[in-house]
Amino acid sequence: MLTVLHGSDLHFGKPYKPEAGEAFLAAAHRAAPDLVVISGDLTQRAKVREYEQARAFLERLPEVPLVVTPGNHDVPLYRVFERIFTPFRNYRTYIRRELETVTRVDGAVVVSLNSAAPRRAIVNGRIDREQLEFAARAFEEAGPDDARILVAHHHLAPAPDYESDTFIPRAREVLNWCDRMGVEMILGGHLHRAYIGDSLDVYPGEEVDKGIVIVQSGTTTSHRGRARESAKNSFNVIRIARKHLEITHFMYFDDVGGFAPFSMHAFPRRDDLYFAEDPFQTGALILEDGEAGGGDSTGRVP
Ligand SMILES: [Fe+2]
Ligand SMILES: [Fe+2]
Repeated sequence: MLTVLHGSDLHFGKPYKPEAGEAFLAAAHRAAPDLVVISGDLTQRAKVREYEQARAFLERLPEVPLVVTPGNHDVPLYRVFERIFTPFRNYRTYIRRELETVTRVDGAVVVSLNSAAPRRAIVNGRIDREQLEFAARAFEEAGPDDARILVAHHHLAPAPDYESDTFIPRAREVLNWCDRMGVEMILGGHLHRAYIGDSLDVYPGEEVDKGIVIVQSGTTTSHRGRARESAKNSFNVIRIARKHLEITHFMYFDDVGGFAPFSMHAFPRRDDLYFAEDPFQTGALILEDGEAGGGDSTGRVP
């Protein structure tokens, strides 16, 4: 079993919410992940002070491999000269030198692609062919049982109620590549609302029987939540088991003073079209009030 903690859109700077940040760090340590993914928009305006704070925050996460990727807010918006000539200078100085990364852990290969395109787009992103070829080379070396996970800030498949932002140009082409590369799950942010679903919900693709699991995190630590997560904060915990993936979407609740599990989603692994177990025999998918849920009768988790 591999546990991945996935947060996004920290937005250090004015939108940052310290109470959500502290609650996320506490939850991160309780989750005891094997890997942490932060899918972009670490800062609001890509300023040095914001990056210093973001870096200090990342250093307080559990000491496990960390996958980060830049978002559209991690390059300067108004400092035009810098935006054109050295857009990733602060990101590279404070967060990570590489904009594209490959992380191998026991049970997964995670490729992060930089979808922020400061010279071509203000808000929207881009993923080009060279980046996909980079990912393809990394995934070629994955073991047969390894989960192949792609991380990019911008969404490739929109949530059902997404607002004005359109998805990346040629997103469908990227999804087709992902399919051919055997990608099992795509992690992203940018929309500031969580969405856990299946690429087939929005795009049947070349392979109509089996989609790619889409895991979007809302903004984990900022005031910028949107759509159904307006003024809310969220993150995901992903558990990758031998036969299934389980994604728990956590949201911040004032009455809890922290994050609590809000919904759970399960999918069979990439090579299976359906779950092997018969839930009526194992009872695994049937939760009875007060018995299998793990919380008290209010649904609260201790
Ligand atoms: Fe964002
Ligand atoms: Fe963004």
